[in-house]
Amino acid sequence: MGEESPFSSAVLKGKVALITGGGSGICFEIATQFGLHGAKVAIMGRRKHVLDAAVASLGSLGIKAIGVQGDVRNKEDASRVVETTVSELGRLDILVNGAAGNFLVAAEDLSPNGFKTVMDIDTLGTFTMSHAAVNYLKKGGKGKGPTEAGVIISISATLHYTANWYQIHVAAAKAAVDSLTRSLALEWGTDYGIRCNGIAPGPISDTPGMDKLNPEEVGKSAEIVPLGRMGEKWDIAMAAIFLAADTGKYINGATLPVDGGSWLAKPRYISKEQLRQFGRAVEQRSRTAKLPNSKL
Ligand code: COA
Repeated sequence: MGEESPFSSAVLKGKVALITGGGSGICFEIATQFGLHGAKVAIMGRRKHVLDAAVASLGSLGIKAIGVQGDVRNKEDASRVVETTVSELGRLDILVNGAAGNFLVAAEDLSPNGFKTVMDIDTLGTFTMSHAAVNYLKKGGKGKGPTEAGVIISISATLHYTANWYQIHVAAAKAAVDSLTRSLALEWGTDYGIRCNGIAPGPISDTPGMDKLNPEEVGKSAEIVPLGRMGEKWDIAMAAIFLAADTGKYINGATLPVDGGSWLAKPRYISKEQLRQFGRAVEQRSRTAKLPNSKL
């Protein structure tokens, strides 16, 4: 776990959050930090034993938490999980769409059904959960005052900002998730006051995503990050609190990269010292070359 939180421990007091994929990885850390900052949390996932262990661990920190089994691709599951959250925890303020499919595969080795599976979990799942939650998140939704509205945070990626090896399915799915964030921010921001934003994590250590890379690649990932280190799950959880709490109350339709600048990374092809010398030499040459005919 990261360092001490910069937020007040009551910043999410009275809020209820539903976090899909909240039983493990980044989204479990989001559930933990939301709970430590005053929220009650519901976590959703497909595997009961994972949810049970996560709820026990949240409970041991004094966090009020429930686990509700379900698949984000299934609209009956989505409605049931949202309704269970509201009936057991009283209301719904924050939906985190975190459930995601991910595996590395070369494009020609990926079957169309494999492609569809990830689109279904990430993109359709984000839409299905948001759709099931909208009536509870909107102003005046159950347990809320007439001006109080909820928040949606969808976990995306930076893969599709350029292109990445062996992740054609995930990149396409996350590009679509970013598009959902913008469309929902426009429609539901206008009509219901719901803020819809995203977080695009970069390389985050100790996650199922990074476990799929081999140790050598993990080392390389850290080397190319402009800030010189892999991210921690804590970094993503703090960004989620920032967007969910009043700190983010004018942020709507944004997807925030939390990646230490990784997606901008390019190898430095010449050192600063070489550049300075080379630059001076080039200037000198061009000045000398211009002198004979120059009228300036
Ligand atoms: N490589 C290539 N294709 C794969 C694959 C892999 N590693 N894993 C699944 N597929 C393909 C299957 O072959 C199948 O396609 P086919 O019917 O043409 O053969 C298709 O995907 C569906 O597989 P299935 O196992 O039925 O899907 P599922 O609904 O159980 O979901 C995963 C499987 C792998 C998508 C999902 O469980 C997953 O991604 N889990 C890991 C979650 C994770 O790491 N999250 C972190 C996010 S960063």
